[in-house]
Amino acid sequence: MKVLVLNGPNLHLLGRRKPEIYGKATLHDINKAVLNEAVKLGITVKSFQTNYEGKLIDLITEYMDWADGIMINAGALTHYSYALRDAIEASGLPAAEVHLSDISSREDFRRISVILPVCAGQFMGKGTESYIEALRFLAEKIRG
Ligand code: DQA
Repeated sequence: MKVLVLNGPNLHLLGRRKPEIYGKATLHDINKAVLNEAVKLGITVKSFQTNYEGKLIDLITEYMDWADGIMINAGALTHYSYALRDAIEASGLPAAEVHLSDISSREDFRRISVILPVCAGQFMGKGTESYIEALRFLAEKIRG
């Protein structure tokens, strides 16, 4: 099983960006935790972070024939990127939407996810654990 792990804009700042909301873990810490869980589940992961919408779309296109599933924290793009939504849908892969914070209980603009309709599941509000839950969910989904 192979999973493409994508982190979008500003997630490279985790650890110093609003720790009261996003926690103290850095993206490196999160990637380590994801990798650790992936080994237990027998999943190979490839992880990327980019601040660019087009790069996320290019990565989905580049890896859609390699991956069996996509795990994505799209950052703020979650709330308005129809281009990203189209790319996820076009990949034909099961996708899990991830957020460290609970977007349903924050500012109004964060309550909407335009990628949710093309994702098989949404995991949020649990910090690093949101990623772990999403990975387990994808493992189940891929195993069918
Ligand atoms: C986030 C939530 C988004 O609203 C925000 O723009 C982020 C991080 C989260 O993980 O909680 O960058 O995706």
